[in-house]
Amino acid sequence: MPAVPASEVYTDSFAADPYPTFARLRENSPVCPVASPRFDSYLITRFDDAKAALTDPRLSKDLYGPGQHYLRIFGPNSEALNRNMLNSDPPEHSRLRRMISQAFAPRRIEALRPRVAQIVGELLDRIVPQGRAELMEDFAIPLPMRVICDLLGVPGEDQKRVLDWTQVIRTSGSGRKPEQDRAAVQEVQLRLHHYLAGLVKAKRAHPADDMISALIEACDHEGKLSERELVSTTFLLLFAGHQTTADFLGNATVALLTHPEQLALLRAEPDMLPAAIEELLRFDGPLPVASPRIATEDVEYGGVRIPAGSIVGVVINAANHDPEHFGEPDELDVCRERVGHIGFGHGVHYCLGVSLARMEARIGIGALLRRLPGLRLGVPVEELRRLPAASPFRGLLELPVRFSA
Ligand code: HEM
Repeated sequence: MPAVPASEVYTDSFAADPYPTFARLRENSPVCPVASPRFDSYLITRFDDAKAALTDPRLSKDLYGPGQHYLRIFGPNSEALNRNMLNSDPPEHSRLRRMISQAFAPRRIEALRPRVAQIVGELLDRIVPQGRAELMEDFAIPLPMRVICDLLGVPGEDQKRVLDWTQVIRTSGSGRKPEQDRAAVQEVQLRLHHYLAGLVKAKRAHPADDMISALIEACDHEGKLSERELVSTTFLLLFAGHQTTADFLGNATVALLTHPEQLALLRAEPDMLPAAIEELLRFDGPLPVASPRIATEDVEYGGVRIPAGSIVGVVINAANHDPEHFGEPDELDVCRERVGHIGFGHGVHYCLGVSLARMEARIGIGALLRRLPGLRLGVPVEELRRLPAASPFRGLLELPVRFSA
């Protein structure tokens, strides 16, 4: 099957609403070769294929192996930050993940509840008297950023510049010319690497009650993480820990504000919030395509041969709208029972931060609904500025809202 040019998939309208494209792919070309300027890939869009692919050991996550695929995907300078558990296979992956999985155990995360509630309260105290807000900048981005920085031990006075750097990566592709964009991302990767290496060094000299210090201590005792692995693990936690949650908070708010009957149901029965969060994640998740996999041998999905060496993208948001698996998949239904989505992934790379993400979303969305009466969009939904169509993330650049002050 000839490869479809990426420009035919990632059209201008795709950024606003990718779901018609996903439906077309699922129906007509569920394993679709896509050619893009930097690299070609195969997109898998049906739910059963997606789940199988996410646990298929022939689809490797080791981007730094002999093929050096990271160069094609992320460009130079990325290795120092990205060579972490997300980009490795067992047994390497198991070793890297085991080191920090304790820290993300549900019991440990539960202990963070008061701090998360406090940050939510402080952010909303600032917004409430104004009657309007830019909810990405004022709430959705700073909430998870402050939580993960606190957890890791990034000092308060550094959080603003760390946030600015990560935003250059998050918004790449929107506005700047491609070559300027690439240069900006490269520069920020270097700065972040330099900063995080310095932070690890400082924590080694002056340990504190935070996750980076705990990781250093565990390494020094057990010698399980090299200095490079420590830095790239810190980057993964910092980036994965706020980017997806921020975009999810934005997407979920828009979904509720554009489905007033669902919002009313939720306001009437706040106990439904945990289930509603799962449905909102299924409906419009922040990570449309799982991070890239590489076929280590020829594999076949849906009757299509994917040659060894190909990059494979499992399209989570297409799978989560598969009518073979979900009734009325394009409807938002906060009462949907046992959603069973793959918004947090599946298999060994299943989201490590799932308990934290759920807690932040429940506390954050719950407080928005309680404390911002009459919450509504500040511009028509079609005028919302979004991340570009080809971004690995699905999210908003801005979310202007109004409410009764
Ligand atoms: C709504 C918010 C979130 C969503 C939708 C989400 C989604 C995902 C998904 C789909 C994956 C698997 C990627 C793949 O297989 O390619 C993943 C992995 C991961 N997530 Fe999350 N995530 C969220 C929040 C968080 C938070 C708060 C953290 C905290 C640090 C976190 C840390 C991680 C890590 C470390 C991995 C890599 C796990 C591994 O490779 O074993 N995530 N996430």
